[in-house]
Amino acid sequence: MDICMFYFGVLVLITNYISLTTSTPLFNLTTDQYSLTVLKNSIVSDPNAILHTNWSIHTPICGWIGISCGTKHQRVTALNLSSFNLRGTIPPHLGNVSFLRVIDISSNTFTGVLPSELSKLRRLEVINVAANNFSGEIPSSFGDLSQLRHMDMSDNVFSGRIPSSLFNISRLQNLNMSFNTLDGNIPEEIGGLSSLERVSLQNNRLRGTIPYAVFNISSLISVIFAYNMLSGKLPNNICSNTPRLREFTVLRNQFDGEIPRNIGKCKELQLLQLQYNNFSGDIPSEIGSLSMLQGLFLLENQFKGRIPKQVGNLTSLLYLMLQENHLTGRIPKQVGNLTSLLFLMLQENHLTGTPSVPS
Ligand SMILES: *[C@@H]1O[C@H](CO)[C@@H](O)[C@H](O)[C@H]1NC(C)=O
Ligand SMILES: *[C@@H]1O[C@H](CO)[C@@H](O)[C@H](O)[C@H]1NC(C)=O
Ligand SMILES: *[C@@H]1O[C@H](CO)[C@@H](O)[C@H](O)[C@H]1NC(C)=O
Ligand SMILES: *[C@@H]1O[C@H](CO)[C@@H](O)[C@H](O)[C@H]1NC(C)=O
Ligand SMILES: *[C@@H]1O[C@H](CO)[C@@H](O)[C@H](O)[C@H]1NC(C)=O
Ligand SMILES: *[C@@H]1O[C@H](CO)[C@@H](O)[C@H](O)[C@H]1NC(C)=O
Ligand SMILES: *[C@@H]1O[C@H](CO)[C@@H](O)[C@H](O)[C@H]1NC(C)=O
Ligand SMILES: *[C@@H]1O[C@H](CO)[C@@H](O)[C@H](O)[C@H]1NC(C)=O
Ligand SMILES: *[C@@H]1O[C@H](CO)[C@@H](O)[C@H](O)[C@H]1NC(C)=O
Ligand SMILES: *[C@@H]1O[C@H](CO)[C@@H](O)[C@H](O)[C@H]1NC(C)=O
Repeated sequence: MDICMFYFGVLVLITNYISLTTSTPLFNLTTDQYSLTVLKNSIVSDPNAILHTNWSIHTPICGWIGISCGTKHQRVTALNLSSFNLRGTIPPHLGNVSFLRVIDISSNTFTGVLPSELSKLRRLEVINVAANNFSGEIPSSFGDLSQLRHMDMSDNVFSGRIPSSLFNISRLQNLNMSFNTLDGNIPEEIGGLSSLERVSLQNNRLRGTIPYAVFNISSLISVIFAYNMLSGKLPNNICSNTPRLREFTVLRNQFDGEIPRNIGKCKELQLLQLQYNNFSGDIPSEIGSLSMLQGLFLLENQFKGRIPKQVGNLTSLLYLMLQENHLTGRIPKQVGNLTSLLFLMLQENHLTGTPSVPS
């Protein structure tokens, strides 16, 4: 122990000048080393002895496995322990590694809460803690991580509400909180995520409506809100402001109302998954302008009326799943033109005729 303290002391002397250029002058390479050592000591199981043998205090931290440093200042910029088979907790001290831009500790068995002190990492661009066993609330202070582009909290046991402060992070492109036990509403402030491309909140306990502000985020590519208790209707202007949307998945919720005719404006849509809800009305003929569509999943809703002949336009379609609705009339012969189809499910409706088998 005495030797360790002496070693730290020497490092403080050698590396003190580095801190002069940083915005947090008290933190330096020694802080990085100390913080990572605390992290190492918080790991209770390391079956492959990766950190145990490699994170040796006698070798520079920039050579430690899973650590990357800046070439000029030799400060720790990335921590990647993904799939190291580690069990333990994350100490608040990690929030002192002030040059961190990337934290990836996904696919381990970390438990406990995610310390709110991580919000001190103002340079952080990527945080991936997916596939662990973190619990408790997502710290609302994470809204201070203004440089964050990628946040993956999926596949843990986070609970409580989604803090609306997160929606202040205007650079955020990828937000994944799927497979947790989050409840409450999706906060209205989500519209503040003006760079958002992919959002997944699937498999939680979310209630209420999708804030219409979501449909104003023009950068959106993929929206996945499946397996929650969300309700309400889709807005009539659904595709007016989201021209890049490729996936819209809200399956297994409690939505009702009609598919807005505006859906035809989502020209890049590839996957539309509305199944297991209470949507009603006709299938709009405008669906025929979705020429990129590969999957149309409308099964187990309350759709009525005829299948529009414009489905024959959907020549990229692989899945046409319309079973268990109240559809009537003849199956349009245009279905026979869907030569890419892999699955066609129309049963449990009131349809007549048989589809001509695509050649
Ligand atoms: C730790 O791992 C890194 C990367 O695999 C390697 O370069 C280094 O030599 C290892 N250090 C020790 C002390 O085992
Ligand atoms: C972390 O390392 C894994 C395995 O090398 C890699 O697949 C992953 O992309 C890395 N994470 C980040 C954020 O770079
Ligand atoms: C780093 O963070 C911890 C807890 O957040 C704190 O107790 C410690 O004193 C901090 N400072 C240094 C220089 O490690
Ligand atoms: C995950 O955490 C829960 C409590 O939140 C605990 O019951 C469970 O045993 C933990 N699983 C693992 C693999 O650590
Ligand atoms: C979100 O997380 C889930 C579960 O970890 C994963 O399967 C999915 O690929 C992730 N999606 C994105 C867009 O990162
Ligand atoms: C968002 O940021 C603004 C200032 O940048 C602040 O006034 C507001 O309280 C923040 N909102 C939340 C919910 O944290
Ligand atoms: C969406 O944007 C339009 C203008 O671009 C604005 O009038 C409308 O209020 C916004 N809707 C929401 C719910 O933010
Ligand atoms: C579904 O909608 C129908 C009307 O279209 C309504 O009668 C029924 O009560 C709704 N069911 C649920 C579970 O909301
Ligand atoms: C179907 O395709 C034809 C020609 O490709 C096009 O003229 C027509 O507008 C399309 N129908 C719809 C509903 O988009
Ligand atoms: C099916 O496609 C062929 C050409 O591929 C076209 O001539 C025919 O009009 C189409 N039939 C229908 C019903 O759209």
